[in-house]
Amino acid sequence: MASRTSRDVLGRGLRVLGRAIREQPRIFAVAVTGSVLFGLLVIASAYVVGAVVGDLVVPAVERGSVATGALALAAAALFGISVLRVVGIFGRRLGAGYMQYRLQAAYRRRVTRRYLDLPLAWHHRNSTGTLLSNANSDVEAAWYPIAPLPFAVGTLVMLVGAVASLFLTDWALALVGLAVFPALFALNVVYSRRMAPRQARAQRLRAEVSGIAHESFDGALVVKTMGRESQETARFGARAGELRDALISVGRLRGVFDPMLETLPSLGTLAVLVVGAIRLRQGAITVTELVSVAFLFTVLAFPVRAIGWVLAELPRSVAGWDRVRRVLDATGEMPYGNVTLDPAVRTPATLGFTDVHFAYEPAEAHLPGAEVLGEVTFTVPAGKTVALVGPTGAGKSTITSLAVRLVDPRTGRVTLDGVDVRDLTAASLAGTVALVAQVPFVFDDTVRANITLDRDGIGDDEVWAALRLAEADGFVAALPDGLDTMVGERGTSLSGGQRQRLTLARAIAGRPRLLVLDDATSAVDPRVEAAILAGLRAPDDGGAPASILVVAYRRATIALADEVIYVEHGRVVARGTHPELLATVPGYADLVTAYEQAEQEREQNRTYDEVTPMTSGLEIEVDR
Ligand SMILES: Nc1ncnc2c1ncn2[C@@H]1O[C@H](COP(=O)(O)OP(=O)(O)OP(=O)(O)O)[C@@H](O)[C@H]1O
Ligand SMILES: [Mg+2]
Repeated sequence: MASRTSRDVLGRGLRVLGRAIREQPRIFAVAVTGSVLFGLLVIASAYVVGAVVGDLVVPAVERGSVATGALALAAAALFGISVLRVVGIFGRRLGAGYMQYRLQAAYRRRVTRRYLDLPLAWHHRNSTGTLLSNANSDVEAAWYPIAPLPFAVGTLVMLVGAVASLFLTDWALALVGLAVFPALFALNVVYSRRMAPRQARAQRLRAEVSGIAHESFDGALVVKTMGRESQETARFGARAGELRDALISVGRLRGVFDPMLETLPSLGTLAVLVVGAIRLRQGAITVTELVSVAFLFTVLAFPVRAIGWVLAELPRSVAGWDRVRRVLDATGEMPYGNVTLDPAVRTPATLGFTDVHFAYEPAEAHLPGAEVLGEVTFTVPAGKTVALVGPTGAGKSTITSLAVRLVDPRTGRVTLDGVDVRDLTAASLAGTVALVAQVPFVFDDTVRANITLDRDGIGDDEVWAALRLAEADGFVAALPDGLDTMVGERGTSLSGGQRQRLTLARAIAGRPRLLVLDDATSAVDPRVEAAILAGLRAPDDGGAPASILVVAYRRATIALADEVIYVEHGRVVARGTHPELLATVPGYADLVTAYEQAEQEREQNRTYDEVTPMTSGLEIEVDR
C-alpha cells in the first residue's frame, strides 16, 4: 500500500514537473543547455586530467624533466574547460532561478485571484491560516524541485555520456560504471519514496501551525481578556511540536541516506582502481585511461546528487501542488450575467425579494443545510428607506448578503430594477448597490485609499463629500495627515465608531443607487446615526439620493424608515410603519423596548468608562 502511494508520488511528481516545463519551456531550455554543457565538460575535464597525468606527469617522473610546451597546452585546455563550465553553471542557475520564481509568482497570483472568485460558502469552510499557507508555502513547495531540475536533467545526459565514454575506453571499466550508476539512481528513488509520507505530513502540519497562529493573533483580545494565554500557547505548542517531530524524522532520513549517496561513488572509484590495475597489467588500458576513469567517478559524485534532490523534493512538491490544485479547481464561483443597467441612470434603484428561500452550505457536504430564510418577499421602492428589524439570528445579515449578491438564493429571486441580480454584470452590480457590513473592514492603508479603493471618478472632492455624509469629515480633518493618514492594520488606530463611518463613506463614495446598511452605525451616537441616515435620504450637496435597506435597532433610526420589515426565524412576520407595528405586533414592541433599554445601559457604561477608564471591568479582569 505504502509503496503504491510512493510510486504514485513519483509519477504525479513527474507530471507536476512536466507542467512546469510546459509553462516555461524557453527558460527551461536555457537552463538545461547550460547544465548539459556543464556535464559534457565534466567528462572532458576527466579525460584532460587523465592525459596530463598519464602523458605528462608519469613520463616526466620517469625522465626527470618536464615537457613545458605540452604542460602549457594542458593548462590552457583545463582553463578553457573551466571557463566554459562557468558559463554552463551561470546559464543553469539563472534559468532555474527564473523558472522557479516566475512559477511561484504566477501561481500565487492565480491562487489569490481564485480566492476572490470563490463564493463566501467556500471561504466559510476554509480557515484563513489554510488560505495563507496555500498562497505561500504550498505554492513554494510545489515548485521547489524546479531549482535542481535542470541540473538533474543535465546530469542524466552526462551519465549517458559517461557510460558511452567508458565503453569506448574499456568494457571492464564500463561494467563498473553500469553497476554503480544504476545503484546510485536506485538509492535515490528509495530515498524519495521513504521521504514522501514524511514530507506530506510536514507540509500539512505547516498549514495547521500557521492556522492556529493566525487564529490566536486574530483573537488576541479574547485570549488576553479571558486569561487563556497558557491554553492558547499549549494548543500552539502541541502542534508546533508535531511539526518539529515531522521535520526531525525528515532530517533523520536525510542523515541515513545522504552519507550512503556520498559513499557509493567513492566505492565506484575504488572498484575502478582495482579493476583498472588488473586491466593495466593485462595491457588492455593505459595509465591515461585509468586515471581518466578514476577521476570521472570522483567528479560525477556531486552532480548525481542533483537527481536525488529532485526526487527528494517531489513528495513535498506533490503535497503542495495538491493543496494548490484544490483551490484552483474549487467550484461554486458565482458567474456574473451580461445584463447591464444604464450607468447614466443615477436615480435610486428598486430592490425586490420574491419568495426567497436560503440555506447556508453545511460544514459537511452530505448533511442538508438548514433553511435560514423562507418565503421572504418584500420591496424597497426607489428612493425609499426600509428598515429590517428582528431578533438576533433572525436572518437580517443573510438578507443583506442576498441583496448585494454575496450569496444566491436557493429558490426565488432577488431583483434590482426588475432584473435578476444573477443576470447583471459585475460592473453593473458594483455600480448599483453597496453594502456596509456589520463588521467594518479597514485596509492597512491611507484614509483616502480606504475610501476610493482605486475606483474611477472618485477624487478628493468626492471623498470629502462622502465623509461629510458619513459625518466623518470632522475626525478625518483632525488626523495628522488628513486623507493621507495611514490607519493601521484593520483600522486599529481608529475607534469603532470612526471605523464604521469610514466604511460608510467608502460605500457612499461610489454613489450607489441602493445602499444596504447592516447595523452599520451601531457604534455611532444615536443622534449622529439619525443625522447620517437623514443625509443619505436627501443629500444636501445636490447628489442623487439612494434607496436604503437598513438593519436597525434604535427607535430613532427605525422611525426614519418609510416601512419596517419585521423578521423572525427567517420569515417576514409583519410589515408596516413603525407606529403600525408597535400597535399590532407584540413581539416587535417588546424587541424595540428591549433594544432601547440595552442602549441606555450602554450609554451609562460609556460615561462611566470615560470618567474612570483605569478601573473599568475589563482592566480589572486583565489584571487578575
Ligand atoms: N456562514 C454561516 N454558515 C452557517 N450558518 C450561518 C452562517 N451565517 C449565519 N448563519 C445562521 O443563519 C441564521 C441567520 O443569521 P444572520 O447573521 O442572518 O442573523 P442576523 O439577523 O443578522 O443576526 P444578528 O442580529 O445577530 O446580526 C442564524 O441562525 C445563523 O446561525
Ligand atoms: Mg447580523
